[in-house]
Amino acid sequence: MAWSPESWRSKPILQVPTYPDTEALAAVENRLRTHPPLVFAGEARNLMSNLAQVSEGKAFLLQGGDCAESFAEFHADNIRDTLRVLLQMAVVLTFGGAVPVVKVGRIAGQFAKPRSDDFETREGVCLPSYRGDNINGIEFTPEARIPDPARLMEGYTQSAATLNLLRAFTNGGYADLHNVHRWMLGFIAGSPASEQFKGLAGRVSEALDFMRACGITPESVPQLRSTDFYTSHEALFLGYEQAMTRVDSTSGDWYDTSAHMVWIGDRTRQLDGAHVEFCRGIKNPLGFKCGPSITNDGLARLCETLNPDNLPGRITLICRFGADKVEETLPRLIRVIKREGFSVVWSCDPMHGNTVKSGTGYKTRPFDRILAETRTFFDVHRAEGTHAGGVHFEMTGQNVTECLGGAQEISEEDLEKRYHTHCDPRLNASQSIELAFLLAESIRAERMKDAGFTA
Ligand code: PEP
Ligand code: CO
Repeated sequence: MAWSPESWRSKPILQVPTYPDTEALAAVENRLRTHPPLVFAGEARNLMSNLAQVSEGKAFLLQGGDCAESFAEFHADNIRDTLRVLLQMAVVLTFGGAVPVVKVGRIAGQFAKPRSDDFETREGVCLPSYRGDNINGIEFTPEARIPDPARLMEGYTQSAATLNLLRAFTNGGYADLHNVHRWMLGFIAGSPASEQFKGLAGRVSEALDFMRACGITPESVPQLRSTDFYTSHEALFLGYEQAMTRVDSTSGDWYDTSAHMVWIGDRTRQLDGAHVEFCRGIKNPLGFKCGPSITNDGLARLCETLNPDNLPGRITLICRFGADKVEETLPRLIRVIKREGFSVVWSCDPMHGNTVKSGTGYKTRPFDRILAETRTFFDVHRAEGTHAGGVHFEMTGQNVTECLGGAQEISEEDLEKRYHTHCDPRLNASQSIELAFLLAESIRAERMKDAGFTA
């Protein structure tokens, strides 16, 4: 079936906002079409080959960032802090797994949100739901909730500025491995769990000292001074994605230049739907969310449709079942993928299946359930003989109080203190790094056991 950047428009579509002025929307989309690409096709291809390594068990994927970026939280410090935390997590995981970590942010474009309900009711007042800052406003007023196409331009501009800063940080010396290690030591010194993490941190220090003694320093090896960092978001608002989709002059292929990688959400992965139609034609690496409702056949058909040539690195299965469902759901899906011979990256999103309402009325996620789903994901892959290739977190570099627990022991009463998310609750900086430490420790322990060493 012929594909074009607009062929999705003739397919059934879910999660679309209703714009009062469709001509104004079309005008903005046309303007976006003339705006520069945010990423290059060659970079998306690099990410795809890195992900191919992940699918073969030779690398690990770390994907993370806000549930929803917002115009209000747009600040250089926030971008820096999220990057800092991701880089620290990556170093710890690199050490734990002894493989390269592919770093992908949910950043520089993660604005549009799928919602369970089209409407939100508060104290008897019913308004259209908030759908992300590039669609409408979060304030609970009739005016704010009207979709405004001008927001797409603001989303583009914020994405461009964010990406520009990320590129500067990751290539301008800030991401120097020794810097990242120093931040990590600073984090440990201030953490209530510092005793627990000293062992692993000490080993990383030792490894760096050993490298230095061998002459491997940031001065002699430029790779230690910079790092690759990729961007991703959910390809939900397809008018924007289409406007950013361009032919790559090198390959003649279509790439969505809004991000290196895009994914399809759990609510919009219908095989005959618009989101699958759009994504099948772009050559970027793709993800799709797999929730408990995914059937064996549905999974197989999606892999075929989105990756007919079975290219390694093309598809990341972002699994989000919930700590209580992962054990019953994941094995059957792994067996389908093995039986059909599909090449995929298996990634664990332990956030979206573990959302609960606190007694104090906040949407939250318990740290222990996030950890439990991730551990079970790794255990199941181990039992099935497949590679648990990555993790996908909603997190921030800020000290927010949105998820319960962790070493800071955030309680239900604490949630109201710094609950800033525009959508789902995020791990804060400390919870994110702790999680990376706990995972790295278990990955390393298994690796040492396999190699015949004591951990
Ligand atoms: C998300 O990643 O923010 C999201 C909405 O996830 P899912 O599609 O898995 O519900
Ligand atoms: Co979310």
